[in-house]
Amino acid sequence: MAAAQVVVATALVHDGRVLAARRTRPPALAGLWELPGGRVEAGESEAEAVVRECREELGTAVVVGERIATDLRIDAGVLRVHTARLADGAPQPRALEHAGLRWVAAGEVAAVDWVGADRAVVADLVALLG
Ligand code: C5P
Repeated sequence: MAAAQVVVATALVHDGRVLAARRTRPPALAGLWELPGGRVEAGESEAEAVVRECREELGTAVVVGERIATDLRIDAGVLRVHTARLADGAPQPRALEHAGLRWVAAGEVAAVDWVGADRAVVADLVALLG
């Protein structure tokens, strides 16, 4: 049996806040917020995928930290969350799948309209932000 497709999500932390990106698609997810990320490609490590996705989706360089939260089952496979910090440049919504970005403080994390899988890591994000 093939291993489940791994999707990485990035808890990008800067100045005590975490970055959330607003999805434009698919229709079921449009308007909801997620941690930026996507599928790990063949031959790529999870950390490499985080770096690539942040470059593609946010136009920024990041340094990847640790893996947080438990693995989450999603339709596409399994979602794994990695922390990261900015290495260079302010994030901008570069990919068509994102309409906007916002930096979320610990006290605001629970009130964000997250996509389903990401909602499950709210407590981990609050703990991460201290
Ligand atoms: O962004 P992309 O479409 O490559 O993501 C693959 C799948 O992982 C999608 O179904 C997306 O909804 C899901 N995903 C998620 N939470 C994230 C990032 C991606 O549920 N933070």
